[in-house]
Amino acid sequence: MSANPANSAENSPLHSRSDAFFNESLVAGFTHRAFTKAMGFDDEDLQRPVIGICNTYSELNNCNNNLREVAEAVKRGIWQAGGFPLEFPTISLGEVFLSPTSMLYRNLAAIDTEEMIRGQPLDGVVLLVNCDKTIPAALMGAVSADLPAIMLSGGPMLNGNYNGQVLGACTDCRRFSDELRAGTISETEYRAIENGVVRSRGHCMVMGTASTMNSIMEALGIAFPGNGATPAADTRRLQLAEKVGRRIVALAQEGIRPSQIITREAIENAITLLCAVGGSTNAVVHLPAVAGRLGIDLPLDRFGEISKRTPLIANMRPSGKYQMEDLFYAGGIPAILKELLPLLHGDALTVTGKTMAENLADVQVHNRDIVRPLSEPLQPEGGLTILRGNLAPDGAVIKHAAATPALLQHRGRAIVFKSITDLKARVNSPDLDVTPEDILVLQNAGPVGGPGMPEVGNLPIPEKLLKQGIRDMVRISDARMSGTAYGTIVLHVAPEAAIGGPLGLVRDGDEIELDVPNGQLLLHVDEEELARRRSQWQAPTPAYSRGYGQLYIDHVLQAPEGVDFDFLRGNDPVGVVAQPKF
Ligand code: FES
Repeated sequence: MSANPANSAENSPLHSRSDAFFNESLVAGFTHRAFTKAMGFDDEDLQRPVIGICNTYSELNNCNNNLREVAEAVKRGIWQAGGFPLEFPTISLGEVFLSPTSMLYRNLAAIDTEEMIRGQPLDGVVLLVNCDKTIPAALMGAVSADLPAIMLSGGPMLNGNYNGQVLGACTDCRRFSDELRAGTISETEYRAIENGVVRSRGHCMVMGTASTMNSIMEALGIAFPGNGATPAADTRRLQLAEKVGRRIVALAQEGIRPSQIITREAIENAITLLCAVGGSTNAVVHLPAVAGRLGIDLPLDRFGEISKRTPLIANMRPSGKYQMEDLFYAGGIPAILKELLPLLHGDALTVTGKTMAENLADVQVHNRDIVRPLSEPLQPEGGLTILRGNLAPDGAVIKHAAATPALLQHRGRAIVFKSITDLKARVNSPDLDVTPEDILVLQNAGPVGGPGMPEVGNLPIPEKLLKQGIRDMVRISDARMSGTAYGTIVLHVAPEAAIGGPLGLVRDGDEIELDVPNGQLLLHVDEEELARRRSQWQAPTPAYSRGYGQLYIDHVLQAPEGVDFDFLRGNDPVGVVAQPKF
């Protein structure tokens, strides 16, 4: 039995979980102490609060490659503050390495994180993340475990450079690949660009998904100011890590939990930042997943409402001109939040122990071309629009800040691809009957159909159109898109095609209408014909018949609910307890 029966989420004495672990009676306590001492620690260490460092370092995830160094800095801070740091690994999801898509494994990593926090004798935890999916996975696990926690990223890459030209991963990976396909650059030049685009450790440095999510952690109050933009290569990243290490010890002793930090107000602050920076549409999936675990109702339309009242003030690629290193010199995410303060819940509590407004008191903006004043925004509204209509009854999203303005109200003929395989097989065929006015439609690439809702929503422009100089056209799917991508791209159509959504009923030649100013996505096919197609519709063959893939398909929710598993939503009434082992 635990020496401390009052060790529950509701009743949280100072470092109660590690106390219970080390002070159990007889063989249990004896074993816990003896085996911990086997690592070279002594009785004095065992008196301290145990702080877990949940590390997503992996050599199969280049973006998280500096996290060993970051972990050492966190440990220094923890020791300085009287804590006892113990580092442990969790699944690491690297965008570039994982197939079929890292999103398929986000929920698996979230389960790993939650259960390791729950099962180990920890009093608090620092979660080290960097690449896209490692961030929401760790946060989802941490909010479900609900032990005092701070998120800490490894930081963005420095600006890429080729021949004096600033490059961004991976916006320019796509741009130059299109130019190669169009024949405007040589293979030699393409390879030289490849050598200069990723020239330091860190995550992609445009305002893609990793930059967006690591910045959003600041707005949520679950990360320290500086988490979003301080480059991985800058020594101030390690100074930040040390500071986080010192603070988590106090946070654990204060018993302040993620559920007290990530409130409805904090989530609204995060959406406001997302809109002001023209951030990744992936946040429109991840934030509802986090909210769902905390029992916070977050309808998709709330993103649209907040976007309408939030000016786009950060001049960041892929919507704008600059990258994270530039933003860091301009004052970082705190500079943007300071400008946004009239639109934020300034009294929201953060892991620093201060409110959002208190954190921002001394912040200054150092470059007004990067962080515009609210009164002189780049665009009067944020970058996102939620679309509805008979093609997306449960909603779809478009990042119109990164779209072609002339295409935001557009009617066109549908060119339908039935799957990702079909898309790959036909999109570059010289025989494809396609014009720049057509609308490319991809079916069966959603949470169930993908499976895992891969980042294929930015369908490639057909090669024959690329050679004519076309660089954008309307594209619609139930998939996601990389935050580093751009174009007039409608994503996350719900319900998805693979579960019988209207997207699966679209046929070649149908007329589709996109009307972003009025938030509409319409399929101009009469209801009688749609009913006939619906009666003939057949679900695609599932991609998995066993294992994790089967679990995923059986339990994954749709995009507006965050693509989480149905059984992971809501609070755990038991909370985090120390489990007796013997
Ligand atoms: Fe990891 Fe871009 S590949 S953030």
